[in-house]
This record gives sequence, structure tokens and C-alpha cells, in this order.
Amino acid sequence: MTTLPDTARIEPANPATITEGGAMLRAGRLVAFPTETVYGLGADATNDRAVAAIFEAKGRPSFNPLIVHVAEPAEAEALVQVDERARAVMARFWPGPLTLVLPRRKDSPVSLLASAGLDTIAVRLPDHPVARALIAAAKRPIAAPSANRSGAVSPTLPEHVAESLGARVGLILDGGPCRVGVESTVLDLSGKQPALLRPGGIPLEALEQALGTRLIRPTDHADAPKSPGMLESHYAPGLPVRLNATSVTPGEALLAFGAMDGTLNLSPAGDLEEAAANVFAMLRALDSAEFSGIAVAPIPDHGLGLAINDRLKRAAAPRRPA
Ligand code: TXA
Ligand code: MG
Repeated sequence: MTTLPDTARIEPANPATITEGGAMLRAGRLVAFPTETVYGLGADATNDRAVAAIFEAKGRPSFNPLIVHVAEPAEAEALVQVDERARAVMARFWPGPLTLVLPRRKDSPVSLLASAGLDTIAVRLPDHPVARALIAAAKRPIAAPSANRSGAVSPTLPEHVAESLGARVGLILDGGPCRVGVESTVLDLSGKQPALLRPGGIPLEALEQALGTRLIRPTDHADAPKSPGMLESHYAPGLPVRLNATSVTPGEALLAFGAMDGTLNLSPAGDLEEAAANVFAMLRALDSAEFSGIAVAPIPDHGLGLAINDRLKRAAAPRRPA
């Protein structure tokens, strides 16, 4: 019997470690890497067994489809059917925190497990030099969910990945903190009308402006298209989370925003981009035995605030039974 190391291997991202990571991915192993949003847990998207290893490592329900990452826009064209609308938003927002759900090409090499058997695939071109270099080194499209155990807070530092996944991941490439800090916006362009499946790093307003049309929102009606990954309780810290708090009860930590005192402050200047970059790391930092719960100040519900509030609502939702 082999004994697995119980700690993860974190290496600074450089040409040598990126080349090694690419070779590991080609060999079917898991490599965690930085993107501008959060750290991803990558596997060769064309290899069913490698993709299965992601679900295993995350402890994630396997009906949850994954985002497939590419290094160049042209690579997406080999995986999905790209229409004029898609080409327009790609030209405007790629590389960047925008994921597009598009019809699967008949000859697409992407594992059906990666797309959970759907006839669509979610594709994204991340705006991070390490992510792009790794995908290029692997010479494969890379399936990558956020690099954390299912339901936990998303990782914005390599240490978060190591804490959450330990030796379940072969290698963690260290690219420092993630700039955006919340996941990509998921835009469904597989139907007639564009639909927002998940708010994220690209604001809804910017997409509506680029497409010249209103997006269907998850809240529009009960049967609006839903991202299968949008389980109620997700991104959840161990402690109970209370939203829109303007004061704290004894024992509670306060996650503040703007000009107010708190245990930590998402952005003392009231800047939503700074708050997005801080939200997961600060939830993590407050999730300690020192406190009885986490109270979170009200966050404005526009621009990146939409994505922040979405993640906070999930963190505060009634927990799924373990
Ligand atoms: O910023 C991000 O998007 C990060 C980094 C690593 O790129 N990745 C990420 O992946 O957040 P994940 O697996 O945690 O979230 C994927 C989201 C889920 O909400 C999932 O349901 C949705 O994308 N999704 C994936 N494929 C889909 C499809 N074919 N149709 C609809 N939704 C899909
Ligand atoms: Mg996730």
C-alpha cells in the first residue's frame, strides 16, 4: 500500500513548474492553478477518468457540469458551436471572467462527464498568464471547477486550495491572490434569448449593453434556465451567516462594508471590486471558533455587488444535510 502525503505540493508558477503541470494534466492528473477569479482544480477535459477525479476530489455531485477552459478563442470553436452573438461577447470580454454556455459540437472532444451529459458546454478563456500558459502547455482544453471541496468557500489563495483539498491535488501552482475574487459570470447563449445563469466577475449591465438586449435572469420566473451548480447552500463557511446586519449580537463577527467599524471590512472605501476580491478570503478568516456567527453588512445590489450578494446569500442559506 502506498501512503499518500497528507499535504499538498505548492510550487511558485514559473516556466518549469508550468511545463511540469502541463505534462501532469496530459497524464490524467489534477493540477490546481490561479485564474483572475478563483483558483481552479484542473483536469484534461477530454479524459473521462481525469474529469471523474475532479468530482472525487471535490466530493461534488456528478450532475454538476464543469467549465472548460481554453487558452485562445479559436480553441473554443473546436468544442462548441460559436454563433455571431457569442463571437461578439468573446471579442469584447475574453480573456476575462465570462463563461459562455453554447451547443456542443457533434465532434467535440470534451468528455460527456465534464458537461454532465448536457448537449451544451460551458467555455471560458481566463485572464491570467499562468492559467493560459498551463492550458497551452497541456495542449488540451482544461475542465476546472473552483479548487475547493464541494459546498465550501472558493479559494483565492494557493493555501486555501491546500487546506481544502490537501493531497487530493497533485500540484498547486502559486500565482498569488486572485484579482477578481468571485467566479466568472455564466451566460447561456444556447437558446434564442440570452440568459444569465450565474452572476459573476463581468457585470450583468455590461453584457446587456454588449448584446443590446435584456438577459433572462434566474429570478425572472420559477422555470427560468438554471445553472445546475446553483445549489442553495454553497460557498458556506462553518459558522452561521447573517446578512444585511447593521449591528452585531454578542459573539458575532462583523464583516463590514464602507464607512463602518467591523471585525474585517470588505472595502472601507465602499469599492465593489475591492469587496469582490476580499469576500471569500474574509469569510474564511472570520470562520473561527473565536466567534459564534458572522454578521455581514448590507452590500449595494448593482455591478459586482450582484455577484457578491449572490455568494453571500448562498453562504447564509439553510445548510444541506451533510
Ligand atoms: O471563475 C470561474 O468560473 C471558476 C474558475 C476556476 O474558472 N470556475 C468555476 O467553476 O466557478 P464551477 O464548476 O465552480 O462552476 C461552474 C458553473 C456552475 O454553476 C455550473 O452549473 C455551470 O457553471 N455550468 C457548467 N456547464 C454548464 C452547462 N453546460 N449548462 C449550464 N450551466 C453550466
Ligand atoms: Mg465552485
